[in-house]
Amino acid sequence: MSDAFILGIESSCDETAAAVVRSGEQLISNVVASQIATHQPYGGVVPELASREHLRAIVPVVRQALAEARHTYESVDAIAVTQGPGLAGALLVGISYAKALAFALDKPLIAVNHLEGHIHAVLLEERQKGNHDLQFPVLALVVSGGHTHLYLASQNADSWTYENIGHTRDDAAGEAFDKVAKLLGLGYPGGPIIDRLSSHGDPSAVKFPPAQIKHRDRRGRMDGRAVDPRDDRPRFDFSYSGIKTAMLRYVEAHQMQGGIDARRKALADIPKPSLRDCLATCDKRALDLVASFQRAIVEDLVGKTLAAADACAVATLFVTGGVAANQELRQTFEREAVHQGLPVFFPSRKLSTDNAAMIAAAAYPKFLVKDFAPMDFSAEAGMVLR
Ligand code: KG4
Ligand code: ZN
Repeated sequence: MSDAFILGIESSCDETAAAVVRSGEQLISNVVASQIATHQPYGGVVPELASREHLRAIVPVVRQALAEARHTYESVDAIAVTQGPGLAGALLVGISYAKALAFALDKPLIAVNHLEGHIHAVLLEERQKGNHDLQFPVLALVVSGGHTHLYLASQNADSWTYENIGHTRDDAAGEAFDKVAKLLGLGYPGGPIIDRLSSHGDPSAVKFPPAQIKHRDRRGRMDGRAVDPRDDRPRFDFSYSGIKTAMLRYVEAHQMQGGIDARRKALADIPKPSLRDCLATCDKRALDLVASFQRAIVEDLVGKTLAAADACAVATLFVTGGVAANQELRQTFEREAVHQGLPVFFPSRKLSTDNAAMIAAAAYPKFLVKDFAPMDFSAEAGMVLR
């Protein structure tokens, strides 16, 4: 099989992205236009604004990705686009553009699940490094602003299948980072700034009780299959709404609101606050609280993932999605997985957060088996991975 150059397009949330990837193993170009500045004043992604920004950015971003790859619209072999999960209006911008390109150029169109993309970000970079013999089964933790999911991933010839064995019952881990940063007046998105501030505080200063999950999951499995009442296999679910409430109580009990309001105001006046700017607004109590929050989330993610890896006797661990960019999470996984004799792989920071290279990489196995999308396919905001 000769090389296949796939143009990937991603617009599921607040990043408009396009990339060219060769045969799922070489990143040729990777362009990401972030909408952070647009959503920052609101402390979170505003869906209508996201769609409008995608409309503005999609054409120049795709052009730039092709130009940087020294490709043209005609020279790529297929067009891949995120079908879901994500914001419906945002997804539709990428999908409509990808359809128009595929139709006009008479190229195959491939629909990709965003979560599968995050998993293939790891595979793309490992192949690029020459690592072609990963051991199966693989357990993948996909941890981002919208998801905290554990998948058992298996490969059969060229096709991949996934089984969900755990997910968050309420907030995603990245959402907890974002909400806590908003609560503390640290701006949006919360993950990167909490990551950087945490090394300046004492992570053992505040003890948060571990998340309690007492009830069986009534929402069913996240791979879309019905729950079988006889299925008593252990699940590895997460919950992050409790820690958010505990943070709020701590802030109230320690009269931190005045300091938070002053911080919010000071940072709002700075166009792109640096770590130094943020540090200047934080006292020891605030830094200790941030560090303790991050430690609690990291310990929960690592503990449950390693317990799942043990129970399922997996050979390899992947950790991917925006929160996988977190320094302490990476270090803790690397340290703890060694004890279990488990190799752990992360994408580079650039490919941890949303991008289109992962979409083009995940599309390659589908390209090989001609799993092309019909022209009438649509966005699936709640798309499941299986
Ligand atoms: O994968 P992603 O770009 O978008 C989604 O699919 O959700 O993930 C974005 C999330 C945000 O919640 C952001 O705060 C979080 O990832 N994030 C981080 C870090 N960088 C991004 N969380 C913790 N530490 C980081 N360094
Ligand atoms: Zn994502």
